[in-house]
Amino acid sequence: MDVLRILLDTDTAGDDAIAILMALRAKNAKLEALTINCGNVDFDQEVENALYTIELAGMSGKVPVYPGSRHPLLREWKTVEYIHGKDGMGNSFFPKARQRPERRHAVDAILETVNSNPGEITLVEIAPMTNIALALRKDPTIARKVKEFFFMGGTNQYLGNQTPAAEFNIWVDPEAAKIVLQSGMPTTMVGWEICMRYAVIGESEYREIDAMRTREAEFFVAVNRQVRKYHKKVRGVDATECPDSITMSIVLDRKIALKVFPKYVEVDNQSELSRGATVVDDLNVLGKKPNVNVVYEASSRLFRRALHNLLRGESLSAPAPHPPRR
Ligand code: RIB
Ligand code: CA
Repeated sequence: MDVLRILLDTDTAGDDAIAILMALRAKNAKLEALTINCGNVDFDQEVENALYTIELAGMSGKVPVYPGSRHPLLREWKTVEYIHGKDGMGNSFFPKARQRPERRHAVDAILETVNSNPGEITLVEIAPMTNIALALRKDPTIARKVKEFFFMGGTNQYLGNQTPAAEFNIWVDPEAAKIVLQSGMPTTMVGWEICMRYAVIGESEYREIDAMRTREAEFFVAVNRQVRKYHKKVRGVDATECPDSITMSIVLDRKIALKVFPKYVEVDNQSELSRGATVVDDLNVLGKKPNVNVVYEASSRLFRRALHNLLRGESLSAPAPHPPRR
């Protein structure tokens, strides 16, 4: 079985942590490194959350964590503790992991990993794209050396979650996203709409997860505790979304992405109103060469099977991935 070699860039809060756990437990993947990007909560807290998740998975010291960009390229932004909790992990305030972060900067770690393993590394982005944009600016040749690039971010003709027009990861650093999407990397996009349509965990499913009585299930419930409270208060629904973990599940098992189409995708960074919007040229009216494989449909059933296997404490297994459709 082909083993996927993953470098994961994250702004570690609750759902990021579940995505990390998925990658650590996957039989068909090796998590080469985690790089940390500014995003959800206080940067140093994101680093601790990543280290703790590695320790929880019993992999302490086996996966290096590289701190990266503490600030977007240009924009000011506000962290979103009100959604994820003060610690980003549902106010669980887990103890500090034994493992400490690496001294090397995330950008240099990305360049070193990709340049030393041309054609081997699957780059996965579940955070704002500052680190990857800076890596591409420092050494543009990595665009043709990565095996594949997947990102959770943006929307495909769907409402944003940070503003009416924009999803958080792209909104935080639209300039970085612009650089990354124009880099020429073989890119697959998992937008916020995929999460909202196929990866929302509701009340009855929480009861199922509660009944599992495993460390992984308790961790899932804990790290999503504040998100659940927030949605109950703001949207009146007892549910939480899994944007990063459905993205990781697609990386690990491409059958979960049921429909994927190459489209031209552009990021708006001109207007304050629509800053960070991802414009997907679905009808190809711009006549520009597609630069992104956009996931249009995913399997809720297969995603839930992957998530529940993880939370029941079973290793994830999936056939070796086939190359992304061009
Ligand atoms: O919009 C959802 C995304 O923004 C997720 O990756 C979440 O962790 C935040 O980074
Ligand atoms: Ca994230």
